[in-house]
Amino acid sequence: MNNTEIINKFIEKYGPSTEDVALFFSPGRVNLIGEHTDYNGGYVFPCALSFGTYLAIRKSTQPVVRMATLNFDFEASIPIGELDRKIGDEWVNYPLGVINELVKRGFKPSGVDMLFYGNIPNKSGLSSSASIELVTGVAIDDLYQLAYDRIELVKIGRAAENNFVGVNCGIMDQFAVGMGKKNHAIYLNCDTLDYELVPMNISGYKLVIANTNKPRGLADSKYNERVAECQAAVVALQPAKKIQYLAELTGAEFTEHQHLIKDETVMRRARHAILENERTSLAVKALKSGDLKQFGQLMNDSHDSLRDDYEVTGLELDTLVAESRKIPGVIGSRMTGAGFGGCTVSLVAEEAVDELIRRVGPAYQKVTGLTAEFYVADIGDGAGRKV
Ligand code: GLA
Repeated sequence: MNNTEIINKFIEKYGPSTEDVALFFSPGRVNLIGEHTDYNGGYVFPCALSFGTYLAIRKSTQPVVRMATLNFDFEASIPIGELDRKIGDEWVNYPLGVINELVKRGFKPSGVDMLFYGNIPNKSGLSSSASIELVTGVAIDDLYQLAYDRIELVKIGRAAENNFVGVNCGIMDQFAVGMGKKNHAIYLNCDTLDYELVPMNISGYKLVIANTNKPRGLADSKYNERVAECQAAVVALQPAKKIQYLAELTGAEFTEHQHLIKDETVMRRARHAILENERTSLAVKALKSGDLKQFGQLMNDSHDSLRDDYEVTGLELDTLVAESRKIPGVIGSRMTGAGFGGCTVSLVAEEAVDELIRRVGPAYQKVTGLTAEFYVADIGDGAGRKV
């Protein structure tokens, strides 16, 4: 759907007006390495994708906020005084969460009509939620001339998810979709928010995303469980070093002090977070020096650690990764995002991409009964105004 078509749908839905309809876009993201490190104060290395969420928006004279999407049937018309109520598990909680965070910071909402359209595969773990949050924040900031700094809007998106939606996520997804740059990945320190845009010089290779299409039932509660396990590890390690986050420890320090963690599961969670943090820095170094084989190896190590120590993969992700690695020309393959379903990302020699899609799809179906989908990643820009 192009810009004009979305605006036409908006006018069909909400009617004509003298006010113009503005159109915004925010991408999805894929994380290349640095998984479950963000809420541990560590490094991540994601990039924005070319698919994402569009938002057509216009102020209205009615004292209600109307939200609809071209993707789902559910829509809402919420009186201004009732914007602080969560609506079941509906998608509108993402934009509502952002509006609530803006209200906490002094924003006075007025009547507004919003029509969303997303082309991120649904529940794929490519951050459709952060994409909705950022497109809402950027649009309202622009429409009401709030003049927020982009990083502040990123923080607002995360706060919406933590406080309103109830997922204790880190800042990676909102940062990637808010700050992404075409053909670059973001090397972000999630504690300080210092970041570097690193050119994705992978000439001769492609990033291929494969979607498990697995329904992700309990993903949010399992995610929050992992966050809590990491916090328990921090507490157990504090007698050795006054840390706030696991990523403040090196792998060597962890080896020295890991005996302080009595719970074996918690120890393995911490080991993943700390070693994954080190892997992320090594991977960025490898990419910068043109050593793609090493980058790919670190992607593989990342997946194996997420499978064995962090236990967020499962049959579907593990099968896609194992089958992908069998294809000559695949130099790295791992799950991306929170896990428990969602997508994998692989670094694949250009000439092997077709073979990967041809062979991995059927092999995956045989094991899981599910149909995988494949996308060659196109690294795009962060959120912004289109029209
Ligand atoms: C989800 C969260 C992120 C991050 C990843 C795992 O995408 O929203 O904050 O924790 O999982 O790396």
